[in-house]
Amino acid sequence: MKFITFDNNDQLPMLGLGTWKSAPGEVYQAILWALEAGYRHIDCAAVYQNEKEVGDALKKAFDDGKVKREEVFVTSKLWNNAHEKDQVKVGLNKTLQDLQLDYLDLYLIHWPVALKSHVMFPENGDDFLDYSKVPLSETWSGMEALKAAGKVKHIGVSNFNQKKIKELLESCQVKPEMNQIELHPYLPQPDLVNYCKKNGINVTAYSPLGSADRPKARKKDDDPVLLKHPLFQEIADKHGVSVAQVLIAWSLHRDIAVIPKSVNKERIKQNLEAADVSLDAADMQAIQGISQQHRYIDGTFFTEVPGSPYSQSDLWDSV
Ligand code: A2P
Repeated sequence: MKFITFDNNDQLPMLGLGTWKSAPGEVYQAILWALEAGYRHIDCAAVYQNEKEVGDALKKAFDDGKVKREEVFVTSKLWNNAHEKDQVKVGLNKTLQDLQLDYLDLYLIHWPVALKSHVMFPENGDDFLDYSKVPLSETWSGMEALKAAGKVKHIGVSNFNQKKIKELLESCQVKPEMNQIELHPYLPQPDLVNYCKKNGINVTAYSPLGSADRPKARKKDDDPVLLKHPLFQEIADKHGVSVAQVLIAWSLHRDIAVIPKSVNKERIKQNLEAADVSLDAADMQAIQGISQQHRYIDGTFFTEVPGSPYSQSDLWDSV
């Protein structure tokens, strides 16, 4: 397993278990199977609405002596309705309570989008906060305070483009240590990845398998199916591995952490074994040559809300 080493020498195993879309009722078992298989990195978020079950599973594993708290790297994310400075702590405390933990290893601002505190998903323009009154620098200073208090060991962002990162870098005391973004061969985002790395920001790939189980509202009829591209099958056959393993190994070969989601025991195990898959230069080059490009999680659920103050160009460097 490859690790990311932070400035204080904390280590993040680069392959973790994703939990977005893992339903309550499934995620408990998935976490236990993952820990048993050897995962030591679990990616969570308040908005996934399953942190209580994740917490129950972690507690069970700790109580049974399967693994110690300090051996598991747990990430969670601040939802968009807790961007006001005094709300950041409230958001974290709820997550800590649900996860039954007294600290997180990494806490991320989930999106550079601010909603009113009673809103989970926006339905009209009134549901958004006035950005000029709640700039990202305010939310970030709330994150910095959590780090200073030892409630979270590391802080970072998710779904931030170069412009938004630059905005943070200009005002922050503590630099973001992670940007978690959608990354797979249909969306390799080399400029954003290089920008992050140049600024000492680590990168995690979400939806590395193309998130085929994303909710209907996040799907379009003509979305390409990542796992079905014939090139990946060809490379998988060459190495005697699965297509999913090729996709996971592709991120690791780019020195990017990766968090495939699964609730299936065999696939959970299979995905972790991708850490041992060696792609060669020809494989990486062939994947780089894929002309198909696609962003699955495009943020239209924020930008296309009537009266939304956000547009696609606020979210992405290129749309
Ligand atoms: P399941 O949970 O039933 O295993 P992403 O990580 O990009 O969001 O993708 C998650 C989707 O990919 C889920 O539908 C998940 O289903 C499926 N998946 C996870 N691992 C594999 C695998 N090894 N092979 C095929 N599909 C997988």
